[in-house]
Amino acid sequence: MATQPIPSILDTVAPLYERVRTVIPEIEWPVFAPDIAAINELKAAKNAVILAHNYQTPEIFHCVADITGDSLALAQRAVDTDADIIVLAGVHFMAETAKLLNPDKTVLIPDLGAGCSLAESITAADVRKLREQYPGVPVVTYVNTSAEVKAECDICCTSGNALAIVESLGSDRVIFLPDEYLASYVAEQTDVDIITWQGRCEVHERFTADELESYRAGHDDLTIIAHPECPPDVLETADFVGSTAQMQDYVVNERPAKVLMVTECSMSDNVSAGIDDVEFIRPCNLCPHMKRITLGNIRTSLETLTPAVEIDPAVAGRARAAVERMLDIGRSKMTGVAA
Ligand code: 13P
Ligand code: SF4
Repeated sequence: MATQPIPSILDTVAPLYERVRTVIPEIEWPVFAPDIAAINELKAAKNAVILAHNYQTPEIFHCVADITGDSLALAQRAVDTDADIIVLAGVHFMAETAKLLNPDKTVLIPDLGAGCSLAESITAADVRKLREQYPGVPVVTYVNTSAEVKAECDICCTSGNALAIVESLGSDRVIFLPDEYLASYVAEQTDVDIITWQGRCEVHERFTADELESYRAGHDDLTIIAHPECPPDVLETADFVGSTAQMQDYVVNERPAKVLMVTECSMSDNVSAGIDDVEFIRPCNLCPHMKRITLGNIRTSLETLTPAVEIDPAVAGRARAAVERMLDIGRSKMTGVAA
């Protein structure tokens, strides 16, 4: 009896290569293929899902992730999953948010060192001091914070729903932490008086308006879209401002001839992989924390079921309530804003 040839790993994952052909050179694919095949088998064997943020590299984003999106979408979709294990391909605060919403599931982050400069800019003690300084003023905390900080606040927000969350509180004054640029972007669009903190994203603060103007001068018909963690003069220069998901939707729906996405590098790779009628102009600022996640450590994490995210029970209940309030209020009010 003739034996069937055993398909090689490259044959098995060949359909996945079609998704990333335009952003991963063919010569590099054999380096990724074995990990991609192993990860997809491990997920099926262990009933695991991978949630990947928009800043993950294309071989993760397009070839092993089950759910992709901005921090709001990842939090929303984390609630719906039937999987026993969630692997968060993103940074630590995102994994904590998934764990808060799924306390009985195993939530893994392949590298515990994947932090965030905003999350590191503020502590729970800082929030308690602000509350003493401004008694009775509600506290909105950007989701880019630790569970301890979330536990001290009234409600969370993301870049996709910050304005709606601030206005939902019905207060004429709000403490908004910790991103001073996102806070000033919200303050421009509301009559609510915003008290803020001096946190910044180390990736977005590096963009400058002069840099963007020189791209405009060099490219006719360039559309600039920016993340609201950028400095105010950068946002003024942009044609559209929104969360990473809103930026992606803008490109998919509006199909600008040429676009410059003022955000982390991998966004342009991931969005451009499915679009061939838009030219992407790519200034490149990498998030070193997001880039700690690799196919190799996702595979090891699934093999060993470590490192798992644990949250101190003394803060988990209050932090979860702040995230759930956001999900309840923010659901129907997420729109990007033309600058
Ligand atoms: P988004 O929620 O817009 O994806 O932003 C998360 C983040 O960390 C941006 O730097
Ligand atoms: Fe944090 Fe900035 Fe990295 Fe986003 S890009 S995870 S805000 S450091």
